[in-house]
Amino acid sequence: MKRVLFCLLAMIGVLSLTAQSVYENEIINNIMARRSVRKYLDKPVEHAKLEAIATAGINAPSAMNRQNWAVRIIEDQKLLSDVTEVFKQENPQMVERDPNFKNMFRNAPNLICVCSPANGGNDLDAGLLCENMMLAAQSLGLGTCIQTGPVRFLVSNEKAKFFLDRLDIPEGYKLLCVIAVGYPDESPDAKPRDAAKVKYIGASTPETSKDDRIFVDDEFNAQFPGGEKACMKWLSDNMQYPEDCLKEKIEGRVNVSFVVERDGSISEVKIKKSPHPSLSKEAERLVKAMPKWVPARHGNKAVRSIWLLPVIFKIPES
Ligand SMILES: Cc1cc2nc3c(=O)[nH]c(=O)nc-3n(C[C@H](O)[C@H](O)[C@H](O)COP(=O)(O)O)c2cc1C
Repeated sequence: MKRVLFCLLAMIGVLSLTAQSVYENEIINNIMARRSVRKYLDKPVEHAKLEAIATAGINAPSAMNRQNWAVRIIEDQKLLSDVTEVFKQENPQMVERDPNFKNMFRNAPNLICVCSPANGGNDLDAGLLCENMMLAAQSLGLGTCIQTGPVRFLVSNEKAKFFLDRLDIPEGYKLLCVIAVGYPDESPDAKPRDAAKVKYIGASTPETSKDDRIFVDDEFNAQFPGGEKACMKWLSDNMQYPEDCLKEKIEGRVNVSFVVERDGSISEVKIKKSPHPSLSKEAERLVKAMPKWVPARHGNKAVRSIWLLPVIFKIPES
């Protein structure tokens, strides 16, 4: 018998959104919610948070635990603005292109500089350190943007030498990348990922699996790309309140069920309960238009899962 669980994913309203999914995994949600942020509040990150981020970084694995990396965390705002002045003189067109330009490091108030041996032999280790730091920052409510663009400028421009000197990079090491960090002033949408880059060897893949059962509450439940917050944002951004219901002041809840297929696509969209046909139509359109979800997994197989989404239509008070 098919195992079916209808779960409340989100209460979608014009004014307010709350969400709850049956399965929560903090780490995976944190990974899925991370985005490169290029607009920040004018609020430096607290030193204790920077320390926590650095600690997470240096706890990354490294080949034979050699820890062949050096991390420099810049809290000196003047250093960032001084080097940005040089950048502005040399690259006025890049400054003009960014309407939110505050500094050459994607506008963040703090900067983490990551160095690794100049021969490139430990860049993989340094990459793991970077990801640890970005995820730690994300979990502390901070945004990040890893960058190599500024490195090219810094190492090739004689006028920016004072910046590299302040970093005190160990002999034989190079500046590999920088990570902007700060309180985000934007929440960028997730950029699409190509699931076809992943192949499962020796297991039935989503494409070839013949298993049509609907699984629930498994190791990994399905989720909207970017997690719940991204789902709520997407739904609210894309909701179009039906004109006739607006005029007649018709509000209410439409319950929509749907299946997240093994490839993440949405199918079997059904209206379960609705106060008005126009609200049904809009709720159905919204659900069908959602981007592909990350499918639920049972063992190492992607599986189908079913959801119930109560879509709340509420007219904003004017
Ligand atoms: C090695 C590396 C270098 C990058 N360099 C830059 C950069 O110079 N400037 C920038 O704005 N973003 C840079 N990025 C960020 C990527 O553009 C970003 O990670 C990618 O578009 C995916 O978006 P997401 O991080 O929001 O998922 C870099 C990312 C990596 C991994």
